[in-house]
Amino acid sequence: MTQQSEQFKKVISHAKEYGFVFPSSEIYDGLSAVYDYGQNGAALKANIREYWWKAMVQLNDNIVGIDAAIFMHPTTWKASGHVDAFNDPLIDNKVSKKRYRADVLVEEYVTKIEDKIEKEIEKAAKRFGTAFDKAQFIATNPRVIEYQAKAESILKRLGKSLENEDLADVKALIEELEISCPESGSRDWTDVKQFNLMFGTKLGASAETAMDLYLRPETAQGIFVNFLNVQKTGRMKLPFGIAQIGKAFRNEIVARQFIFRMREFEQMEMQFFIPPGTQKEWYEQWKKTRLKWHLALGMGDENYRFHDHDKLAHYADAAADIEFRFPFGFKELEGIHSRTDFDLGNHEKYSGKKLQYFDPEQNKNYVPYVVETSIGLDRMFLAVLSNALKEETLEDGSTRTLLQLPPALSPTKVAVLPLVKKDGLPEMAREIVEELKWNFTTSYDEKDAVGRRYRRQDALGTPFCVTVDHQSIEDQTVTLRNRDTMLQERVAVTQLKTIIEDSVSISTLLKKL
Ligand code: GAP
Repeated sequence: MTQQSEQFKKVISHAKEYGFVFPSSEIYDGLSAVYDYGQNGAALKANIREYWWKAMVQLNDNIVGIDAAIFMHPTTWKASGHVDAFNDPLIDNKVSKKRYRADVLVEEYVTKIEDKIEKEIEKAAKRFGTAFDKAQFIATNPRVIEYQAKAESILKRLGKSLENEDLADVKALIEELEISCPESGSRDWTDVKQFNLMFGTKLGASAETAMDLYLRPETAQGIFVNFLNVQKTGRMKLPFGIAQIGKAFRNEIVARQFIFRMREFEQMEMQFFIPPGTQKEWYEQWKKTRLKWHLALGMGDENYRFHDHDKLAHYADAAADIEFRFPFGFKELEGIHSRTDFDLGNHEKYSGKKLQYFDPEQNKNYVPYVVETSIGLDRMFLAVLSNALKEETLEDGSTRTLLQLPPALSPTKVAVLPLVKKDGLPEMAREIVEELKWNFTTSYDEKDAVGRRYRRQDALGTPFCVTVDHQSIEDQTVTLRNRDTMLQERVAVTQLKTIIEDSVSISTLLKKL
C-alpha cells in the first residue's frame, strides 16, 4: 500500500473511532457514498459553516444570506440546463464490469504526466540548490516542455470532444492513450454514454397527478430564482452577493473516496451579481479572496493551488478550482465560476418574468452577470481533518496521535480534568466547566490517568486541557496544557477565559482576512 493510501485509511478510521463520521445506516451495512456525522463531526462541521458564513455575510455589508428549499419547481432545472446538460460521460470496462467517468480516466492520465513534471522540478531543485530558478527551468527544460505539451494537447482534445458531444472521440482518446481499467488492467471498453446526475422524485398523492421533481444538484438555483426578491426587499445595489448553505444531491458514479464525493452533501455557495463587462475583474478578485479564506486557517500555503478549467461547465465563461493536497493528491476543493447572465437570462426566458436590475448610474435595465464561489462543506471537512491528523514521536520515544485542527474549528475548545476523583477536585472542575461553557464548548473528563486523558483530547483536537489538582483548591490556580506544544503553565482560574478566547475564537480567525 502506498504511503498516501495508508494515511487516507488512517483518516477514515480515526473519523469513525472518535465520533466524527460514520457510514450511513451502518447496522444495515451502510449506503454507498452516504455518510453521517457523529457528535464531534457535527461540531467541526458547524464551525466550518460558521467560519464561511461570517466571512461572507457578517464581514461584507453587500452580501446577504438566504435559506431556500431543496425542492424547486421542475422548470428551474430545465432553465438552468441541468436536465439537458448535467451529465457525466460514463464508460464501462467489459472485463471488470466497473463503471468509470470517461473524463476522469483521461484526467487521471494527465495527472500522472503532471506528477512527472513535479518530479523533474524536485530533482533539479535538489541539483541546483539555492541557484534554482523554477520558472526558467519549466520554460526551458526539454523534458518538461514535452510533458507539458502532451498534457495540454490531451486536455484540449478532451475539452473539445466533450463540448461537441463527440463521445466516440472520448473513447478513441482513451484507447489511444492505452488507458486500462484500474481494477482489471483490461483495455476492453464499452462506448461512452451520457448519464444525468439528478435524483428524481415525485410530489403529490396519486400517480396520475403527481409532479416530477428533482432533488437540487446545487444550491445556486435557489439564489437565482430569489434574485429579485432579495434585491428589492433588501434594497441592494450592484455589486452585491447572496450566500447560501444547504444540501445538494447528485447520483455520483465515481464515489469511492469517503466524504470527498458523496451522493448527499452540503454546499456553501455565493452568487455575486455584477454589471456585465466587469466579470473578469470580479472573477480575479473572488479567486484571491477565497484563497485568503483558506490560507488564514494555517493548513500550509504549499497545500493549495489554482487549476484553471479548459473544459467549462455549460454556464461558465471562465472557471478555476482551488485545489487542496488531500491524502490522495491535489484535488478540487472549491470552484470559482464566472457564470455570465446564463442563469438569470434563462430563468427570464422560461418563467416569462423579468429578472433585471435598474442601474441608476447607467440609467438602464439589464440582466446582471454573476461570479460564483462554491465549496463543498463535506469536502472542506475532509481537507481539514486529513491535514490535521498526525502521528508524533515524542522525546521519550513514545508516539501520540494528534489532531492538530485549527483551534477555532475544534469541536471542543477546552477539557477540564480533575487530577483525581476525590478531595473536592471533581467539584471544583465542574464549577470551572459551568463558568467556561458560556463562551466555549467545554467537556469534563475524570476517567483514567491524566496522561491518557490528555492523549484522548489530543486525538479529538481539543486545543486546551485544564487540570485541577490539590493546589487548585488552596490558591484557585490550575494547569493549562496546550495541545500542540504540550507545555503546561500555572494560571489563575480567573485568567482562563481571556487566554483561551484569544486562540480559539472565530473572530481571531476572521481578523486575519
Ligand atoms: N454551483 C456550482 C457547482 O455546484 P461544482 O463544481 O459542481 O459547482 C462545487 O461543485 C463544489 O461542491 C465542489 O468544488 C465540491 O467542493 C463540492 N461538491 C461537488 N460535488 C460533490 C460531491 N458529490 N460530494 C461532495 N462535494 C461535492
